[in-house]
Amino acid sequence: PDIAPLAPHASLPKSEAPVLVCILDGWGENVVKDEYNAINVADTPTTDALKDVPGRWRTVRAHGTAVGLPSDADMGNSEVGHNALGSGQVIDQGARLVDIALEDGSAFKLDGWKYISESFTEHTVHFIGLLSDGGVHSRIDQLLGFVRGAARDGAKRIRVHMLTDGRDVPDGSSVKYTEELEKDLAAVEGCDAKIASGGGRMYVTMDRYEADWSIVERGWHAHVLGEAPHTFTSALEAVKTLREGGGKPVSDQWLPPFVIIDDAGKPVGTIEDGDAVAIFNFRSDRVIEISKAFEYEDFSAFDRKRFPKTRFVGMMQYDGDLKLPARFLVPPPAIHGVSGKLLADAGVTTFACSETQKFGHVTFFWNGNVSGYFNEELETYVEIPSDKVPFNEAPDMKAREITEAGKEALRSGKFQMVRVNYANPDMVGHTGDLKATTRACALVDSCVKELLATIDSLGGRWLVTADHGNADDMVQRAKKTNEPLKNEKGELQLLTSHTLAPVPVAIGGAGLPADIKFREDLPNAGLANITGTYLNLLGFATPAHMEPSLI
Ligand code: 3PG
Ligand code: CO
Repeated sequence: PDIAPLAPHASLPKSEAPVLVCILDGWGENVVKDEYNAINVADTPTTDALKDVPGRWRTVRAHGTAVGLPSDADMGNSEVGHNALGSGQVIDQGARLVDIALEDGSAFKLDGWKYISESFTEHTVHFIGLLSDGGVHSRIDQLLGFVRGAARDGAKRIRVHMLTDGRDVPDGSSVKYTEELEKDLAAVEGCDAKIASGGGRMYVTMDRYEADWSIVERGWHAHVLGEAPHTFTSALEAVKTLREGGGKPVSDQWLPPFVIIDDAGKPVGTIEDGDAVAIFNFRSDRVIEISKAFEYEDFSAFDRKRFPKTRFVGMMQYDGDLKLPARFLVPPPAIHGVSGKLLADAGVTTFACSETQKFGHVTFFWNGNVSGYFNEELETYVEIPSDKVPFNEAPDMKAREITEAGKEALRSGKFQMVRVNYANPDMVGHTGDLKATTRACALVDSCVKELLATIDSLGGRWLVTADHGNADDMVQRAKKTNEPLKNEKGELQLLTSHTLAPVPVAIGGAGLPADIKFREDLPNAGLANITGTYLNLLGFATPAHMEPSLI
């Protein structure tokens, strides 16, 4: 787009007091308000009261085409949500770009494909990634598109290293996906294609923001070295057995690493010199670490034991600044003119804070997948280390610490814009634990109260919103009736994934003129419309390349 610098707002002048943007991660406004909506169940007086202010509360779309996903059946997620919130634009996202590249065949003509093709006849091609059709990090149909393309282009040996999901899709669905993949691989013609290793996404390979490198190390051992505490002769058997956990059931997200062996007890697919390795996740956050392990000669996050010389590609380039990986199958979305860059260019001081699990969301994703600062002198980013436990065991997470950091930043007088992200409704929501999620939502509500009191005392302006739904529905439901689903044993079927719900947006603050209200002619607005809105609160006009402001 044509990007002009920020210009002053015509009627809403800049104030001396700061502007707060607060993101409640995974806090949807669901039409179903029953006992399985954790936000509804939780005591949330602060966010409830926001709804009662005429013209200053509304919802916006946070899923599907409104955030650049292939279809309106796609739930939103933090990557696309924060991209939209930070950039003010609806960008064709990775999921869609890969779909297009597979449909028109361009994926097989690009450099990344040519590069791995060199290994097709003499070596093995490995695909590593999240095995589901969640559409947040990856999709099984895209994996198969590349597997079949490799076989067609002469690959003789293909190995898939699969991470079980249960987080963007229902727990237990890993069995179905594994069964399907085994069948589909067996049917690939002229090629020996098999599953070689795997494990649960929260325990093996897919760590993010360096929260816990041992997760990636376990994956390296299983995928590359062929070493894991559990070996099986079939992946289906592996998944079924490991889910049983020897009497203590384990969910898909947390399955231990496993390796598939042949009849002689030898791993069927270790990764060797000359092999090609492709990560089939399109989303970056949870594959950046494993990409570093494959790509960097110089690497000290853990002892790799053996470092094979592979032809390594990502589905996309996951970090444009680090140029990581150097080679990729499909070019990533190009995001220009994000608010962070424009604000830095306009000399605005910014503070951003979250805990580890969402830190890159409110910085890297917010800034259009750019790591680091636009202007170090104007920006301060604070990461509060997350706990390393399943978050239903510690549902308070770091909400209090984030609140303290946010209050301090507001009071310091050093920052014109302060943005914080609360991870709880999303991270605890993903565990499927209703009670813990309810507690998390109530705590976050009380944190919002503190932040708003602080900004009001300073005469500032604020905007509270979310990136997508999650805590607003904790059960799977019948499509037409919304009745909670139960299994044969009569047990509730938990919903661990995000929802399609729109998200709330509220504005206010002692420094916001009384006549500032949401306009009424944007009923279909989405997350991208929020960017212009907070730029207005900061005293700037909405830039032409962004979606219109809500006010
Ligand atoms: C995850 O990576 O934890 C989930 O797949 C998506 O959650 P997020 O989009 O809220 O990060
Ligand atoms: Co989430």
